[in-house]
Amino acid sequence: MSDAYILGIETSCDETAAAVVRSGEQVVSNVVYSQIAAHQPYGGVVPEVASREHLRAIVPVVRKALADAGQMYQSLDAIAVTQGPGLAGALLVGISYAKALAFALDHPLIAVNHLEGHIHAVLLEERQKGNHHLQFPLLALVVSGGHTHLYLAEQHGTAEGGMRWSYRNIGQTRDDAAGEAFDKVAKLLALGYPGGPVIEKLSAHGNPAAVKFPPPQIKHPDRNENRGPGDGVRFDFSYSGIKTGVLRHVETHNMQGSIAARKGAIKAKESPTIADYVSLCDKPTLDLVASFQYAIVEDLVSKTLSAARAHNVAALFVTGGVAANQRLRNRFEESAAQEGVAVYFPSRALSTDNAAMIAAAAYPKFLVGDFAAMDFCAEAGLALK
Ligand code: KG4
Ligand code: ZN
Repeated sequence: MSDAYILGIETSCDETAAAVVRSGEQVVSNVVYSQIAAHQPYGGVVPEVASREHLRAIVPVVRKALADAGQMYQSLDAIAVTQGPGLAGALLVGISYAKALAFALDHPLIAVNHLEGHIHAVLLEERQKGNHHLQFPLLALVVSGGHTHLYLAEQHGTAEGGMRWSYRNIGQTRDDAAGEAFDKVAKLLALGYPGGPVIEKLSAHGNPAAVKFPPPQIKHPDRNENRGPGDGVRFDFSYSGIKTGVLRHVETHNMQGSIAARKGAIKAKESPTIADYVSLCDKPTLDLVASFQYAIVEDLVSKTLSAARAHNVAALFVTGGVAANQRLRNRFEESAAQEGVAVYFPSRALSTDNAAMIAAAAYPKFLVGDFAAMDFCAEAGLALK
């Protein structure tokens, strides 16, 4: 089969992204316009602002993705776009634009689940490195600002007849996603938005053992790790308790004054850097963020490894914005090695939201002719199956 060039478009949250990927295995261009600056004053993503920013950015971002790839609209083989999950208004911008392009160019249109995209970011880069033989069963942890989900991923079909992927959810957060907890704790401590990158940097200066957060306890009437695989055992997560633990610590240790002082000092700076945040954090704050990061990372690793053990998986993918965290990567590498499981991460550029992962996830669908009808809708709560 000749090469297929797929244009991916992603607008599910606060990144307007477009990319061209060749045959699901080579990133030819990858353009991400981050809206962080527009949302920063609010300490989180404001849905209406996100839609407006996507409208402003979508045309130049797609044009740049094509120009960087040296492709013409006509020379593309398909247009892929994120259908959900995500913010409805934000998704609609990408979907409307993708539909218009597909209609005008008479190209096939492919609808992609954002979470499937995060999983295919890993597959894309492994193929790009020449690794075409992943081991199954495969467990994927998608850990981002909106999700903390565990999926068993399977491939069906043959190389000749085409492959289809299917996914079984075996665990997810009961409340906050891990990235959401990073963002909310950063907001509480006046550390800007998004929280993950700044908390990671600050944690290097603090003592992770200073504050003890009890591991999240989930009442699973059905949790019994001695049962065999496939019998409905769940591996759910919960991060609102740790987040509330940080709030209680702030209150009981009278940290409000130092938070207010930092807020004022940060406001006075045009674009605060990580070094500014480090210099504006006292030792108790650095210890608190390091301990918070430690608690979240240890819980993600231990629950995911329990699931990997119960399902006897051969490969583990860790993907999504929080997978950019180096401490998380190190702990997964150590623990997975002890279990004899191969662990894979996307590069940092493809850990957070991007459109290359959408174009890559679309490729198996392109091969089997799984195209979207022109009237398909955005689905804010789209499940991955
Ligand atoms: O995948 P993503 O770009 O968007 C969603 O689909 O949510 O993930 C964004 C999330 C944010 O919550 C951000 O704080 C978190 O990923 N994040 C990190 C790091 N970089 C981004 N969390 C921890 N450590 C990081 N280095
Ligand atoms: Zn994402």
